[in-house]
Amino acid sequence: MSKLIFLDNGATSYPKPDEVYRHMDSFFRNYGVNPGRSGYDLCMEAGLAVEETRQQLTGFFKGTDPNRLCFGYNSTDALNLIIFGMLRPGDHAISTTLEHNSVLRPLYHLSREGVEVELVPFDGAGFVDPQEIRKRFRPNTRLVIVNHASNVIGTVQPIAAIGKLCREAGIPFAIDASQSAGKVPIDMKAQFLDVVAFTGHKSLLGPTGIGGLYVREGIEIRHTRAGGTGVRSAVKPHLDEYPYRLEYGTPNIMGIAGLKAGLTWVQAKGVDAIHHEEMRLAQILLDGLRAIPRVKLYCLDSLENHIAVLAFNIEGVDAADVGTMLDVDFGIACRTGLHCAPLVHEGIDTARIHGAVRFGIGPFNTEEHVRTAVEAVGKIAALRAKR
Ligand SMILES: Cc1ncc(COP(=O)(O)O)c(C=O)c1O
Repeated sequence: MSKLIFLDNGATSYPKPDEVYRHMDSFFRNYGVNPGRSGYDLCMEAGLAVEETRQQLTGFFKGTDPNRLCFGYNSTDALNLIIFGMLRPGDHAISTTLEHNSVLRPLYHLSREGVEVELVPFDGAGFVDPQEIRKRFRPNTRLVIVNHASNVIGTVQPIAAIGKLCREAGIPFAIDASQSAGKVPIDMKAQFLDVVAFTGHKSLLGPTGIGGLYVREGIEIRHTRAGGTGVRSAVKPHLDEYPYRLEYGTPNIMGIAGLKAGLTWVQAKGVDAIHHEEMRLAQILLDGLRAIPRVKLYCLDSLENHIAVLAFNIEGVDAADVGTMLDVDFGIACRTGLHCAPLVHEGIDTARIHGAVRFGIGPFNTEEHVRTAVEAVGKIAALRAKR
């Protein structure tokens, strides 16, 4: 591997554990058939691997019925299934200004078709007040959907409190767990969650192209697609029962295999242990950045209720230029710009200056990586000062 220091784990985790590469290679060679479609042994075994992953993920989210764990391509795919499958014209939906475009854009589309959408702003520290969500409940509110952990400012929202208020009011509550799954515990029951959307390639350490959703019993999502399920082919409409209800066509078995290996690695290390170490590195990074003149940090007065995603700017330098210098001069990968979350940047007042620089720490980062990053930012800020 090159000497690149990868601090873009908010975009995707890299590298993956060796077990993920090895398992995907051997799975594809030995079981690379269309699972559950035919009756021969190999096909059944491939199908079994899919079902085992379903069970493992259901346990991970503390769900109760593995059939309600449906695979899709990523969280964008899952969030589209949720939003288009739960809202109709005349409905009211509540979300937040912390959302990624994978929530905002489906909501904007529906708002053109008669769904009323309200977005609750976050406070100066980067958190949404559950009471601000509750205040907006209406008799026709059919969905509350919240980004669990921000991909820009790293704040972790109080989903259990929001979930409790929604449950009491009988309003379905969905979370976007793209950034949190694998970093922060998620518990369908204890946090009063109705639907969880996840992606496989970030902190679950799987490959791209795999993700999905878990849907609690009692919550129904309408079909917005239809197609092959591999079973009961003579039935005309798409099947109603889960998981077929929300799965269409040949699944990404390579993705499922890689996700299984990633999840197994995460579970063996422990979500808390991974998070604890990432936050230790985040604190070193934060302390270092704080000490650099002209570095402006966003929603980083404290790292409490945070994941290891940090946004900053160097006064007077475009975020994209900082990113280029980090890459070209220091071999550090990060992400700059609006991070597909334009309203977060409006909230922290960075939309007008082309966004911010984001460092995202992952399980394979080291203390040396973050210290090198601090040094690099210090040199870039000093260069600017000399101009
Ligand atoms: C908070 C959040 N939601 C949704 C997504 C979309 O994830 P994917 O591209 O895997 O669908 C991302 C990815 O950056 C994200 O950070």
